[in-house]
Amino acid sequence: MSTIPPILTKQPALNKITTHAFRQKKERGEPIAVLTGYDYPTALALDQAGIDAILVGDSLGMVVLGYENTLPVTMDEMLHHCRAVRRGTKTALLIGDMPFMSYQVSVEEAVLNAGRFLQQGGMEAVKLEGGRERLDVIRAIVGAGIPVMGHLGLTPQSINMFGGFRPQGRTAATAEKMLEDASLLEEAGCFSLVLEFVPARLAEMISKQLAIPTIGIGAGIGCDGQVLVTHDLLGLFDRFTPKFVRKYADLHTVMENAFKAYIADVQGRTFPALEHNIEMPDQDWESLVQSLNH
Ligand code: KIV
Repeated sequence: MSTIPPILTKQPALNKITTHAFRQKKERGEPIAVLTGYDYPTALALDQAGIDAILVGDSLGMVVLGYENTLPVTMDEMLHHCRAVRRGTKTALLIGDMPFMSYQVSVEEAVLNAGRFLQQGGMEAVKLEGGRERLDVIRAIVGAGIPVMGHLGLTPQSINMFGGFRPQGRTAATAEKMLEDASLLEEAGCFSLVLEFVPARLAEMISKQLAIPTIGIGAGIGCDGQVLVTHDLLGLFDRFTPKFVRKYADLHTVMENAFKAYIADVQGRTFPALEHNIEMPDQDWESLVQSLNH
């Protein structure tokens, strides 16, 4: 019997997006559209809509699992959701977000955990947060044949260092450090770089400085692509909406209204209706009634 997990046996689509396609899009000046995804139905919709990449973000912890921040998310939780996304995706590039403490302890552990995203989660690349302090880890993961997306600016796994979800790179000194870090990440082998909640003109300068594409979130239009947390865009996450989000739907209200309508139908005995019933042949019904009457 084959030991290859079934998630890895699917044929890729002919127009499959790869990390090379990311680079080519930047060279052609074509913006790259990325969104987060955490489950099968959302992955299906994202892929069919033509998204370039699905990031299984550790934002999972906040918008799906209800944690206060991303710090409690585990490798097993990430992999569980990666597999669901993989099953719904044919074309988009799949990027798994390495959770807190999965790559900070040692280079060896980081490579093993990055490998799990590909072997057990069906991902095609990983993302991790941080600048110059991550170079050894990035080189080792890339050296193992695993594409890495970097992440600078507001890196949520460091909120305790930042004192909350605050914009980054707003002083000349921190902006200069970010410019240097961006180049170092490119040199270490990252195929792409997320810039989160940084001044738009700084993000544009970084984007022009790098050959690899930058993917902005709250970083202005000068990035080579954009990413948002899908639950923010859909209006599904009710706790807060960051300033940089454009809400394209209010699915929380749509869901709540649908649930209220269902509850009212059940309480008013208008659901289920006749069209929802299944029937049995009259002959069988009659013989049942007859046998019960004897
Ligand atoms: O976890 C996540 O969803 C992210 C994106 C916001 C870039 O890191």
